[in-house]
Amino acid sequence: MTSAQSVALEREELLTLARAAALQAHAPYSHFRVGAVVVADGQLYRGVNVEISSYGLTLCAERAALAAAVSAGARRITHVAVACIDAPPSAPVSARTPCGACRQWLADLAPQAIIYIDGLEESLTVKDLLPYAFAL
Ligand code: THU
Repeated sequence: MTSAQSVALEREELLTLARAAALQAHAPYSHFRVGAVVVADGQLYRGVNVEISSYGLTLCAERAALAAAVSAGARRITHVAVACIDAPPSAPVSARTPCGACRQWLADLAPQAIIYIDGLEESLTVKDLLPYAFAL
């Protein structure tokens, strides 16, 4: 297997896991289910969006997965896969990519990560998503 083929396989596997994770989303208000998978040191961490009645306090899938990884002691995050399983196939890419808050979390906690978005062929870096990110 060429390394390009193994990267493609890894991408598909991670996106499959992210789609499966999204089935656990708690999205009773938007009905827009999102799943995220974070890879760190060969371990997988999953997250889903969790909505509550005070809508603004909703937690996105990406931040849930990053928090799970950090809570488990993971530090060197190498890959993040995100799947918005309720985005219609014709939806623009903006309906699949992380929100601004999640981009800042990615910039802080997963600056070296390769990011796979379900429905988008190219892989992204954090810099693609958030150029000139704030940092302390
Ligand atoms: N959502 C995510 O989980 N990740 C994002 O980056 C964008 C939006 C969730 C939040 C809310 O539960 C639903 O998608 C609709 O905005």
